[in-house]
Amino acid sequence: MSAPLLDSPLPIVAAPMAGGPTTVALSTAVASAGGFPFLAGGYRTPEAFAAEIEALRPAAPAFGVNLFVPSRDDDVDPGAFAAYAAELAPEADALGVALDPTPVFDDDRWEEKLALLLARPVPVVSLTFGLPDRTAVAALRSVGTRVLASVTAPHEARLARDVGVDGLVVQGPDAGGHSAVHDPAGYPEPVATAELVRRVRRKVDLPVVAAGGVDGPAAVRALLDAGAQAVAVGTLLLRTDEAGTSPTYRRALTDPAFTETVLTRAFTGRPARALRNGFVERHRGSAPAAYPAVHHLTRGLRQAAAAAGDADRLHLWAGTGYRNAPGGPAADVVRALAGV
Ligand SMILES: Cc1cc2nc3c(=O)[nH]c(=O)nc-3n(C[C@H](O)[C@H](O)[C@H](O)COP(=O)(O)O)c2cc1C
Repeated sequence: MSAPLLDSPLPIVAAPMAGGPTTVALSTAVASAGGFPFLAGGYRTPEAFAAEIEALRPAAPAFGVNLFVPSRDDDVDPGAFAAYAAELAPEADALGVALDPTPVFDDDRWEEKLALLLARPVPVVSLTFGLPDRTAVAALRSVGTRVLASVTAPHEARLARDVGVDGLVVQGPDAGGHSAVHDPAGYPEPVATAELVRRVRRKVDLPVVAAGGVDGPAAVRALLDAGAQAVAVGTLLLRTDEAGTSPTYRRALTDPAFTETVLTRAFTGRPARALRNGFVERHRGSAPAAYPAVHHLTRGLRQAAAAAGDADRLHLWAGTGYRNAPGGPAADVVRALAGV
């Protein structure tokens, strides 16, 4: 048995949730209950990210941060992208915003975020959307940071091992939000998270944090029994008091009008699990696999939808367990999931 990957009394991890839901308050509450919190570095400026880390450091003895690994940006079909922009124009018109049909790429300021984590090390860094080279992993490990790679299949786990990470976040396709699948043109294979954990562990001897579709303590137990050292939850924390989830998004999670979740590239060009709303229905068949270009294309539209309380056009990220997402203090959710 390898050494524990995450130093927390309870084997419950608050998954990083970029775009608002993860806050320092949520992370602090999770740590106070004995869970292991992750801050979300994605979409944040390095300055805001650094400020969050320093705010959490004294409040949480052990914590991690998450980074988006830059995507390849050389394979967007300009014709398909322009066609998708044209298809979305009526959605934007309805919200009074204009879309810019020129593909925009960025690396989420990866180098700067890496530099700040080398200058001010944190206990754990998790990576999603692919793998960096060995040098970046080695640099983080050389300052005492444990590095986790998010994977969605055994072959991705082998590649993660080969770049030298300390452990894996094995994310099943039931997870809310973006899939960590390394190739955004593919969808993760439909498989229960516990079965995926078993498959990965048969191929790769690294400690595993399991994530995806947790809807209560029995699911946590099943993932630990499958060999995970800890279990990460995102969706079940979205409605807690300390989460930064917007009011429209919170309401949608309990609105009976939404009856299921679906994996879609419609909002960002990368597969993500969301509540099935009108936007998903209208566009899930046509979005090109172009991340982050589609993310930038739709961002203004989604911001306007959030401001207008328009849940029909908002990216309502949710895992399959969303109906069991409770309100109230996050610490209660963490303790209940751990059965204490
Ligand atoms: C709103 C939201 C935002 C997310 N943002 C991130 C992120 O920034 N980085 C990441 O690695 N995973 C992100 N995820 C995925 C989670 O880390 C985790 O894999 C997932 O929430 C687990 O499945 P569950 O939602 O069914 O609990 C996000 C998930 C949600 C619901």
